[in-house]
Amino acid sequence: MTDKTPHYDLLIRGGTVIDGTKAPRFDADVGIVDGRIAAIGKLTGHTADRTLDATGRIVAPGFIDSHTHDDQAVLSQAQMPFKVSQGVTTVVAGNCGISAAPLRVDMDLPMPLSLLDTPAEGRFTTFAAYLDALRATPSSVNVAAMVGHSTLRAVVMSDLDRPANEVEIAAMQALVEEAMQAGAIGLSTGTFYPPAVKATTEEIIEVGRPLTSRKALYVTHMRDESDHVMESLEETFHIGRALDIPVVVSHHKVQNAQNFGKTKVTLPFIKEAMQHQCIGLDCYPYTAGSTMIRTDRGMMDGRVLIASSVPHPECAGRDLKDIAAEWGVSGEEAAVRLQPGSAIYFMMDEDDVQRVLAFEDTMIGSDGIPLGEKPHPRLWGTFPRVLGHYSRDVGLFPLETAVWKMTGLTARNFGLHERGTLKPGHHADVVIFNAATVRDTANYETPTQPAEGIDAVIVNGAVTWQHGVHSGARNGQVIVRREAA
Ligand code: ZN
Ligand code: CU
Repeated sequence: MTDKTPHYDLLIRGGTVIDGTKAPRFDADVGIVDGRIAAIGKLTGHTADRTLDATGRIVAPGFIDSHTHDDQAVLSQAQMPFKVSQGVTTVVAGNCGISAAPLRVDMDLPMPLSLLDTPAEGRFTTFAAYLDALRATPSSVNVAAMVGHSTLRAVVMSDLDRPANEVEIAAMQALVEEAMQAGAIGLSTGTFYPPAVKATTEEIIEVGRPLTSRKALYVTHMRDESDHVMESLEETFHIGRALDIPVVVSHHKVQNAQNFGKTKVTLPFIKEAMQHQCIGLDCYPYTAGSTMIRTDRGMMDGRVLIASSVPHPECAGRDLKDIAAEWGVSGEEAAVRLQPGSAIYFMMDEDDVQRVLAFEDTMIGSDGIPLGEKPHPRLWGTFPRVLGHYSRDVGLFPLETAVWKMTGLTARNFGLHERGTLKPGHHADVVIFNAATVRDTANYETPTQPAEGIDAVIVNGAVTWQHGVHSGARNGQVIVRREAA
């Protein structure tokens, strides 16, 4: 009686769906048409141009990397193998106060702005120009981008070593307004970093005024994640309340030995504040962080591994201590000689990392820095490490929760509409993986290795990664804040 058997572009058969809402898994086929999910259920007898067999596999929403520094990489390394190979289909860029736009063509980029590896010839002087470039030459992943406060300071201020004056605040505010109109999803700050250390709370609130009417996000690498982490949380929540907007605490951690265990205080404090305002947080699943090479005491406390160095590229992958010994200088002196560059700092406690990961509202974000040959392994390993190591092997939370922390929760917190959960009508960002074997293989010695157990990755309906091979598809979209769509 049916003359029209449903037909799909792509049909994923025989898998077990974890839909990204934290609901229990169920067996279902998934049909995709025109880049959208058309049907989920028993689709026996339905036909398709292409069929993927997912028998014995999990079919989940493509992972959303809530915290990236991929602003420039989505253009210069457009296939994004380090993310796609993990099952990531969407990246949130513009974190820690650093964004690829807007910039001036004639300016020098102070650290850590230079971590984005922005070439002086392809700079974007407006946020709209950046998003247009991404539309013209799409990446393999979807991109939602924020504008960075440190970037704005570097554009507007002649001297970063003081608070902004009224004129400079007005100029930054105008740039935030331009970014909002172009479709930025929020503003990020990194008051931990030299270009923004001197920014006051009031400066950030004033610069962020254009966020309020849009309910856009305020996302922050806080001023202090060490001895003064509680004051930093208070400052963050205060800014959120003053602007009446949602906030996200980036890569929540407590660092340095004297603060180990403090997440027993920070997490209940965050939970309590969540009763009164909209708060999100993310975390990467490692006890080491990575950032620009620094020389301040707190950063030099533990083991320091050099990830990249402009003057000494041969030192990538080596311990700072060994380099210093070889050169016959102090660790600090060696660090100065290695600048500019990036390093890996071992300064967190495993119990704290697990406590933050397991906290109900924590999203997964890699904070990967797509630069050099010896990056922090989080760039290639974050998502499979949470699925394999922390969910399956350590048993920190069920797989449904792990998936939710990298999909549905993140889409909700960042306002990424029709993504993050598998539902008819939603964009067809999908990952197919083996729950029994998925694991990260990237480690500190060999950090640039693809994960195991990720069978296929589909971005807006296009098969982008399958059995360890990139298809070449670059079907990513620019995700703009909804009203700007
Ligand atoms: Zn950061
Ligand atoms: Cu970051």
